Amino acid sequence: MKTITEKNKVTMQRIFSGIQPSGNLHLGNYLGAIKQWEQLQYEYESIFCIVDLHAITVPQDPIELRKKTLEVAKIYLAAGVNPDKATLFVQSQVKEHTELAWILNTMARLGDLEKMTQFKDKSAKSEKETVGVGLFDYPVLMAADILLYDTALVPVGQDQIQHIELARTLAKRFNARFGETFTVPQGKLSDEGALIMGLDDPTKKMSKSAASEYNYISLTDEAEMVRKKIKKAVTDSGSEIVYSDDKPALKNLINIYTLLSGKTKEEIAKLYQGKGYGDFKNDLAEVIANFLAPFQARLKNISDDEALAILHSGAEKIRPLAQKKMQAVKERMGILF
Ligand code: TYM
Repeated sequence: MKTITEKNKVTMQRIFSGIQPSGNLHLGNYLGAIKQWEQLQYEYESIFCIVDLHAITVPQDPIELRKKTLEVAKIYLAAGVNPDKATLFVQSQVKEHTELAWILNTMARLGDLEKMTQFKDKSAKSEKETVGVGLFDYPVLMAADILLYDTALVPVGQDQIQHIELARTLAKRFNARFGETFTVPQGKLSDEGALIMGLDDPTKKMSKSAASEYNYISLTDEAEMVRKKIKKAVTDSGSEIVYSDDKPALKNLINIYTLLSGKTKEEIAKLYQGKGYGDFKNDLAEVIANFLAPFQARLKNISDDEALAILHSGAEKIRPLAQKKMQAVKERMGILF
């Protein structure tokens, strides 16, 4: 996607997105976010971040955090993010993210943050007095991530749309008070992949932090585990393979099948006419395993050093953009720099 700037120079619009290096990345993360990135990177100037400062809003083991940060970078690469096309970096390596987050905190309102459903879900299990301030403030840091880079589009899953709304609100609020400074971003959802539901409960999203590993298919699950999990996945009453809102469990499984096989829902319905869940599930497990096998082979072949070098050069490349935006912000606000 290209735009003509004031100087009549054709520039590519920018996309930005990120994933937390926590838990096990799963098919929902891939189908909701990474798969879109892989396709969009050829049309947009693309920045993909590993948001470690978001991950620490809940307790993390230091050794695990370091390992996961590298693993997420490798997952981006193995899934087809091309470091010659897109910039990959770790959020904490560009300090302007936290600096802008503080400034946006002075624009954000309690009312903005209190209605965030992800915060409500994550904090629901704890007493209010013990809920971390970082968890509450999390969407402001996410707004900073996005607004630092004049992002036009944010390719994410459905669960992040409310956070992007906040980024839009903060951008508009800042612009209205201090003059045009931030691009107002838009979320971008993938069609059927925007909300992949849990295999053990089709009323809740597939989640890295789910209590049971039977909720999700991890991108690093081996074929045997995939078969086990799909076999155990809940299904609806009846035995017909039909795509319908009345059958949310089956609808979710058909969505996964469609997105990974390229077959349409109609083709799938036809394929399983007169057959039952058993055949459908066996084939779905093979579709998933066949997708994961080459992905995992690529993942194994990416070394820590290779991933580290890509992340460091990404941060070097991106830092001047972030610094320039922070200068503009400070100048408009009357902050000396
Ligand atoms: P995170 O790490 O929870 O998830 C990463 C991406 O995966 C998507 N996703 C899903 N998509 C479909 N179905 C699901 N079940 C599913 N679960 C997760 C998420 O929507 C997301 O796109 N706050 C963000 C990380 C973040 C960010 C940003 C994203 C921080 N700063 C700036 C975009 C731009 C998060 O926690 O994602």
